[in-house]
Amino acid sequence: MSERAPVLTIDGPGGAGKGTISRLVAERLGWRLLDSGALYRLTALAADKHDVALDDEAALARVAEALDVVFLAESGEARILLEGEEATRTIRTEQVGDAASRVASLPAVREALLRRQRDFCQAPGLVADGRDMGTVVFVDAPLKIFLTASADERAQRRQLQLREAGVDASLSSLLKEIQARDARDMQRSVAPLVPADDAVELDTTSLTIPEVVDRLTELLAQRGLASDT
Ligand code: DC
Repeated sequence: MSERAPVLTIDGPGGAGKGTISRLVAERLGWRLLDSGALYRLTALAADKHDVALDDEAALARVAEALDVVFLAESGEARILLEGEEATRTIRTEQVGDAASRVASLPAVREALLRRQRDFCQAPGLVADGRDMGTVVFVDAPLKIFLTASADERAQRRQLQLREAGVDASLSSLLKEIQARDARDMQRSVAPLVPADDAVELDTTSLTIPEVVDRLTELLAQRGLASDT
């Protein structure tokens, strides 16, 4: 394990609010942020760029190992460059998300991304957002959260997010996609989406974003990892 600083792991299904919550908690604490889903999305995008088939595990692992990615945080806005090109929005499409979910089910790809993820752990601390942060990547993390929300609620949140981006999508098709991705993430044989034995489960269905951030800050303070003010 190469943990050099405290890690807060935030795992859970897509749409549970992990991205927003992780970013806000990291900002509040002044800690680094690892968006591990972005690494799987970037691997899928790089594979597409280089014409690597989504079932060629060895070639995909090489793509993951060689990922040329830069995470920028300029004036509060996070940007991602893949091979020097803007990838911030491209990796968020449903198409890339779907390819990422396939790529993420391949053990050699997950192995290839392990060290890169652990390298994010630097002082003063790290908020790690993903599916297997507490179960595989940072098993010694002093606080592990498993964030959930009902599938209906997650579909509604996704619809709102898409609407804000000017995209119309039906609730029933979003719900189906969410359920299919949940099933794939939970049923895969390697690093399936499950709460770590020592994770605190938090259902955000009826909580606001500030309520969730406050709750996590309280839990960190209880463990002596941060002040709750
Ligand atoms: O969180 P996200 O939607 O950006 O993740 C994209 C895909 O990558 C999703 O299908 C789950 C997968 N993933 C994973 O398997 N392990 C992680 N630590 C993060 C994401």
